Amino acid sequence: MGEVDQAFIQSIEHRPNLDTIEIEGIPLIDLSLSHTIDINVLVSKIGTACKNWGFFQVINHGVPLELLEKIKVAAKAFFDQPMEEKRKVKRDEVNPMGYYESEHTKNVRDWKEVFDFLIKDPSFLPASPELEDDEMRTLSNQWPENPPQFREVCQEYAREVEKLGYKLLELISLSLGLPSNRFNGYFEDQLSRMRLNHYPPCPCPELALGVGRHKDAGALTIVAQDDVGGLQVKRKSDGVWVPVKPTSNALVINVGDIIQVWSNEAYESVEHRVVVNSERERFSIPIFFFPSHYVMVKPLEELVNEGNPPKYKPYNFGKFNVTRNRSNYKKLEVQNIQISDFKII
Ligand code: OGA
Ligand code: NI
Repeated sequence: MGEVDQAFIQSIEHRPNLDTIEIEGIPLIDLSLSHTIDINVLVSKIGTACKNWGFFQVINHGVPLELLEKIKVAAKAFFDQPMEEKRKVKRDEVNPMGYYESEHTKNVRDWKEVFDFLIKDPSFLPASPELEDDEMRTLSNQWPENPPQFREVCQEYAREVEKLGYKLLELISLSLGLPSNRFNGYFEDQLSRMRLNHYPPCPCPELALGVGRHKDAGALTIVAQDDVGGLQVKRKSDGVWVPVKPTSNALVINVGDIIQVWSNEAYESVEHRVVVNSERERFSIPIFFFPSHYVMVKPLEELVNEGNPPKYKPYNFGKFNVTRNRSNYKKLEVQNIQISDFKII
């Protein structure tokens, strides 16, 4: 075991089982609309996938396929550079955007390196997690000089996926019986971010994880992955870890904590993780759709009533985000903030 730093080692109950299993996978949904496909059919497929899995894949999503290819090439070109080049855009507690190689999930180090940037640059966030402190701070992107065209490709990809994000939010809103634009206003000053993930081969894939089990804190996540595989979803029906099968031209979608709260748990944010392997490096590119910092996240009024009272107390998204991010820089001794902290029991 000497090859891997202790910080990466998962406790026994969280170590992955690396035997490959063949089981029913998450739904694959074709987003193309034609005269033969009624939008109601699509809306109902999305609703069922959100309800039963919290995860699905989409094809014919409108993101140009050559751009999907280009962003994977750009990710590889960036991470292939020497560490000293990547460190030029290293993030820190003052500027959390840029390159980083020692992220922790649930206080165990992840076997990966990342590059993060904001979809809306600059973005505004509370300066501290304290509720009574209303000082704000400005976040802005750090772009590397190399590889050439990196910034342009990242931004073009983000623009296209952002359009898909709104389309999915509209379909999800319809599936909850709400007007299609019900969520749009929450994203006016969105804190959404895009991340490039690189998971290098790991000498001890049975002890470490690329990303430890977690739920995404945003509204929705859209992930492009390569053909290596490793993303696993905890199946709602029985808690079995199910691999998300790499599917060419598809994007992976998952519901985050905010949709869980907005929908008053009609849709749940599902736990997922990334398993690594000793042979092949893996790349993935998520975009996390986060609302504006001032949004108070709470069950939507239209979806609650006497028989189905709100299951969550309102929380301020900016403060939640700042509190959550503290654990990315240091190993905290306590469990980080979760939406369950706002649950009404
Ligand atoms: C994440 C995540 C999945 C992947 O970064 O939150 O779940 O496939 N990534 O890399
Ligand atoms: Ni995730």
